[in-house]
Amino acid sequence: MRGLHIVATGHYAPKRVITNDDLSKIVETSDEWITERTGMKRRHYCTEEEGNVSMASAAARIALDRAGIDLSEIGSLVVATFSGDYFVPSTACLVQRELGLPDEMICYDLNAACSGFLFGLETVRGLLLQSEKRYALLIGSEVISRKLNMSDRGTCILFGDGAGAVVLELDENRGYTSVMGCRGDDRLIYCNASEDSDKKVHMEGQETYKFAVMKVPKLIKEVVAKAGLNMDQIDRFVCHQANARIIESVAKVLKQPMDKFYMNIQEYGNTSAASVAIALSELWESGMCKEGDKIVLAGFGAGKTWGAVVLDY
Ligand code: UT7
Repeated sequence: MRGLHIVATGHYAPKRVITNDDLSKIVETSDEWITERTGMKRRHYCTEEEGNVSMASAAARIALDRAGIDLSEIGSLVVATFSGDYFVPSTACLVQRELGLPDEMICYDLNAACSGFLFGLETVRGLLLQSEKRYALLIGSEVISRKLNMSDRGTCILFGDGAGAVVLELDENRGYTSVMGCRGDDRLIYCNASEDSDKKVHMEGQETYKFAVMKVPKLIKEVVAKAGLNMDQIDRFVCHQANARIIESVAKVLKQPMDKFYMNIQEYGNTSAASVAIALSELWESGMCKEGDKIVLAGFGAGKTWGAVVLDY
């Protein structure tokens, strides 16, 4: 079984920072409520000049600089997103142009909402297994600020914009175990594209919360067992950053200390497909993980979708 090696990472968040107090001037909410219920303090919103392509390109540029690889050795570029600047062309094609990547590669977007980065890892590994090229680029990038109903206080306070990128290659000496799934649903979380809709994100918050606290621990238990490991052998958990209370509940059910769970929700809010990618990039920068560490990445969200992998760092 050939595993995935994270060769390098990068991330980008817009400079425009929106605090809880800023939101309290727009909807009836407070720093206290948002902090207590979600753990969020700030999120980043794109300025008018920024968008999905510019953020995804910025994150990828950092990852590629750090990887120091020959760009002609990249065979695929996948962007996980539900908030591209265009329906067509894909964000991936425009990132390819921005970065001056070679023509001989496939580029496309993948929409699995907050599980997008996880579905992306599974997809990219499949692409690498049949590719003649050594590397693949996977990006999670979202501009959710443009899809928020700013009068829906239960939803608009949660989301932010950002992008994270990873350069990946296959590695004989590293493992890869995954569990992915979907149970079609357009009621819990949706963003309707039809002309007669508002095209904004809608969410049944409480129900989504219940789904997450029930599903994510089961998912992690399943993937860790499938990898032939026990929970104590996992060095680091990187969960989709949707709510600090969800992550705390997962840690409790798994009987694992909170310091194994990376959390940056206070800085970015929920960035959907970008959240695990940004967290991975921050972990990389921090040096908190060392080569060979066993890490679990887990996501869940609209679709309904879910996915988790065990990787060797
Ligand atoms: O990435 C996709 C996955 N998304 C998620 O995982 C999100 C999951 N859901 C959640 O994180 C939580 O359900 C929320 C943070 C969205 C809401 O927290 P909650 O503890 O479930 O609150 P609630 O919806 O039960 O609302 C409790 C009260 C209500 O008032 P009443 O009816 O008790 O008077 C709401 O109207 O809080 C009110 N409320 C707010 N108050 C101040 C809802 N939103 C706000 C707000 N500020 N922003």
